[in-house]
Amino acid sequence: MKTQIENIFPEKNDLPDNIDLPFPINQTQYLINGELHEWAGPCEEVYSPVYIEEKGSAGNVIGSYPLMDEETSLEALKAAKEAYNNGQGEWPLMTIKERIECFRNFTLKMKEQRDIVVKLLMWEIGKSLADSEKEFDRTVEYINDTIDALKDLDRNSSRPVIKQGIIAQIRRAPLGVVLCMGPFNYPLNETFTTLIPAMIMGNTVVFKPPKLGVLLHSPLLEAFKESFPKGVVNTIYGEGQKVVAPIMQSGEVNVLAFIGSCNVADILKKQHPQPHKLKSVLGLEAKNPAIILEDANLENTVKECITGSLSYNGQRCTALKIIFVHENIVEEFIEKFTAEVEKLVIGMPWDKNVAITPLPEPNKSEQLTELVTDAIEKGAKLCNPSGGIYNKSFFFPAVLSDVNSSMKIYHVEQFGPIVPIVSYSDIQEPLDYVVQSNYGQQASIFGKESKELGILIDTLVNQVCRVNINSQCQRGPDIFPFTGRKDSAEGTLSVSDALRVFSIRTLVALKENDFNKSIFTDITQNKESDFLSTDFIL
Ligand code: G3H
Repeated sequence: MKTQIENIFPEKNDLPDNIDLPFPINQTQYLINGELHEWAGPCEEVYSPVYIEEKGSAGNVIGSYPLMDEETSLEALKAAKEAYNNGQGEWPLMTIKERIECFRNFTLKMKEQRDIVVKLLMWEIGKSLADSEKEFDRTVEYINDTIDALKDLDRNSSRPVIKQGIIAQIRRAPLGVVLCMGPFNYPLNETFTTLIPAMIMGNTVVFKPPKLGVLLHSPLLEAFKESFPKGVVNTIYGEGQKVVAPIMQSGEVNVLAFIGSCNVADILKKQHPQPHKLKSVLGLEAKNPAIILEDANLENTVKECITGSLSYNGQRCTALKIIFVHENIVEEFIEKFTAEVEKLVIGMPWDKNVAITPLPEPNKSEQLTELVTDAIEKGAKLCNPSGGIYNKSFFFPAVLSDVNSSMKIYHVEQFGPIVPIVSYSDIQEPLDYVVQSNYGQQASIFGKESKELGILIDTLVNQVCRVNINSQCQRGPDIFPFTGRKDSAEGTLSVSDALRVFSIRTLVALKENDFNKSIFTDITQNKESDFLSTDFIL
């Protein structure tokens, strides 16, 4: 394995034809106020986690993107603000049907870019071909599901409500300007899970791609430009301090949609001069535990824990990041688990059946090594022979046993391929871990006995927001609510919840008398208002 890892990166001549792109891709365009502008200022180089060995030297620069300044960033905000125009702009006043039409148009254009976006996902963040394709397709499906959910919402709100002598029409209205920032691990999907619902509800958007996974958005700029009125979606790039801080400090952002670390979320929220006017929708950190009971079916448990902890190299907010195993089965579990880990296919994102690929974050292998070393120094055992062997951005998963609270890996979110295993004798030990943890996203329990599972479910549902039984933690299906307690999230996202998060319930009310009834009838029958209307979209 060591030799395989030493030679993990391909030579240029060994690259398959179908994954190559005309590198470097130097993105100079940005979208503000419906126009694609050319950036002439400084640019940031994009490094791929995939090193290409060329005649002994290693090269991995694949392109660059604009390092914008404060002035340009504020232009993006101005465009979004003018397009919203205090709720009087073309977009917030557009009918839902018309907005849906814009999205249908966008989706058609977006699908034309599938091939290049998928390739850029592989090159920029090292995601496997299968997972990159899944990310793209899941995003398109998310847009279609959002359209369907909006139609449902519209149908349900088209019926007036009559209560205590008052007739009301209750609908959802937009909130204003939304700043959308997604994470590097799902740069397309997770960014779009806020961007799409925010826009479709009539808000206007300033959108900053994550630091890693920027170029893959560039093929979609033209589609955004052609599908939406000017200023509805605007893009910014560069250092947060230069391009995001001024936008937040302006006080003109109504909703912050951010998926990333608690630290950055706190900084951004504090920059707003009137925090009470800022609504935040945040997807933050997590350290989801698996709790494996004595009677668990080990075959299924190992399978779920492998995908749960190591899909996309463990770089998922929903990944299983610590595994508690009952002491009576811990040895057997470790033996079976490490055997499966050692069988995982390693390689480049486009390799057939590849499971473990290079990591995009700079110096990640060194950081993971520090965590492993710290744990071993404090008494943990490295269980798998290839665990922790690394070459540049490639790091083979390390399975650690005998982990305890003195070690950093017990507490921090590793966001990478380390699997810490804690042996317990009393179920209270993992439960205390969950209660005392700063995080509260999800947990997985593996076991057979329904009575024991029932008690654990009732305890855990007040600690985390999804309890998975004999199944790994995950976000999907996207119609399920996705959220967390404590440092893990603020607000709930799902296809339908997101429509609610980016809008506010608003109603028109009339005292129920003959005069008002005839006004209601006239307005609805003559179609004199889009809001006060009993029409609905089929
Ligand atoms: O990184 C967090 C993602 O929302 C996880 O989504 O569970 O579908 O991989 P997933």
